[in-house]
Amino acid sequence: MASLKDERARVSSAPRKYQPKPLYIQKARHGLEQKITNIRLKKAVIGVCLAGALTLLMMDYSLFGSKGAWELTQSVPGLFFIVALPLYILYRDLKRYKKTVTDDLQKLVLLCVIIVGAVAVSRFSAEILSTFTRNLPGVGERAGYFAVPVALGAMLATLLFDIHTGIIVSFVMSIFADIIMGGEPLFFVYTFVGSMVASFSVVRCNQRSALLKAGLFVSLANMAAAAILDLYRHMLFTRGGLHDIVAASIGGAFVAVLVSGILPLLESTFKVVTDISLLEYSDLNRPLLRNLMVNAPGTYHHSIIIGSLAEAAAEAVGVNPLMARVSAYYHDIGKIRKPEYFIENQAKGENRHDRLTPSMSSLIISSHVKEGVELARESKLPPAIIDVIMQHHGNALMTFFFEKAKEAEGAESSVREEDYRYPGPRPKTKVAAIVMLSDAVEAASRVLDNPTPPRIAAMVDKIVNRIFEDGQLNDCDLTLRDLTEINRSFNLLLSGIYHHRIDYPGLGIPSGGEKRKLGGTAYKQPEEDKAPAFHHPEGGRRRAMFVGPGKR
Ligand SMILES: [Fe+2]
Ligand SMILES: [Fe+2]
Repeated sequence: MASLKDERARVSSAPRKYQPKPLYIQKARHGLEQKITNIRLKKAVIGVCLAGALTLLMMDYSLFGSKGAWELTQSVPGLFFIVALPLYILYRDLKRYKKTVTDDLQKLVLLCVIIVGAVAVSRFSAEILSTFTRNLPGVGERAGYFAVPVALGAMLATLLFDIHTGIIVSFVMSIFADIIMGGEPLFFVYTFVGSMVASFSVVRCNQRSALLKAGLFVSLANMAAAAILDLYRHMLFTRGGLHDIVAASIGGAFVAVLVSGILPLLESTFKVVTDISLLEYSDLNRPLLRNLMVNAPGTYHHSIIIGSLAEAAAEAVGVNPLMARVSAYYHDIGKIRKPEYFIENQAKGENRHDRLTPSMSSLIISSHVKEGVELARESKLPPAIIDVIMQHHGNALMTFFFEKAKEAEGAESSVREEDYRYPGPRPKTKVAAIVMLSDAVEAASRVLDNPTPPRIAAMVDKIVNRIFEDGQLNDCDLTLRDLTEINRSFNLLLSGIYHHRIDYPGLGIPSGGEKRKLGGTAYKQPEEDKAPAFHHPEGGRRRAMFVGPGKR
């Protein structure tokens, strides 16, 4: 029998992949597996609860009588599976194409609330409206069903998530609506058309009043769908057909009114940011932005330009341009607390960093990220914008202060690179990465001599490459193709901003080059914005105004 020693020797001589993993790896793996199992369990519980709640909402209550006990025991489980199947399809679709929704329990709960809410509203309004129309002389209960605001669910899903989620919710809600209307043949088609139009009419909805316009589109789509269904049933040119079309138009109005009321409630409860609320945050008269304009006018101007750059870049790679613009407006909000330490707000000739040690300067500069997050939380900005503020410098190195500290300590310097890095984290979303790139590009473009389009293109290329090589984009989903598109949009916009301007002869206004020579104070390279030698694309070496990615 082999001894323990022999056994150990045998294991250690085995190929590496067959050797037992160290204990800490085993523990970490076990912890991760446990975590994944817990999340799966939570999702399964949410799914079963959702299907159960929807079954209760949609079941036929008339079976509760003494005679219906046997029917009840069969129809309730049957209904449960009818409900569970489309929900499972919805989940699989989102898991495949919208992992951001399925990986976030809060978002999953929000989606459940939308579906349950839409089914509850549809069920109770179907009861009320059908009873109402049944009691109207000459109008049947069928007309009431056409006014049920089923499209509510799809419209809310598009506004709070995206069009993809809106379309799949349209499909699911149409099946549920068919059950609610007592299996009315072809009602699926009617509700699907209304829900799809509701989704598409709010894709670029950035004003609350636009919801009413969307409601009008739903009304028109409902009327057309009701007319087609009645044509198929030979009812279009009858009194019943007219009643159906009138009820269908009312359904669209109901959807607009309900969404206008429910949307702000869901936005604030689940801290979700929609295009409508983003547009409100982009108002330059909001207290935080006004504060930035008054206390740090240079930063304010810098943020507005970055807003335009980020918006164009986001449009080019297919992410929300409004989100990019608004995040850019707030990205440097932390500079409000110590504006005079940042070059764009300094009066000519004075640089606060001349009197500080490099380590103190780097602490002050990097603190604008933390202070920005604090200010944003105090002002109740949405978490998505706060994340961009937190990530807009990633963990980039403040190269100038790092080099300065090493220079000051001499040859045997013990300066650690980690002490001169921003706290991070690195950008985790495409929007945060775009704001980071726009920030660095805007800063560098300010000191570009004779900014011709080829020089701008070379500068943009250089900066984007530097950020990429520094690993700052490792945690986000930007692809190389996205980076090419972003480069192109930056070139286009910066070439437009710095297009050739004619001189004003006779007014004595010095040109850009002359200005730099005159005293040079206004253009003096600020300490916190100096970068190590930057190879100018057209030869020679000069200092760029940024330090690493997003130095400003
Ligand atoms: Fe910044
Ligand atoms: Fe900035």
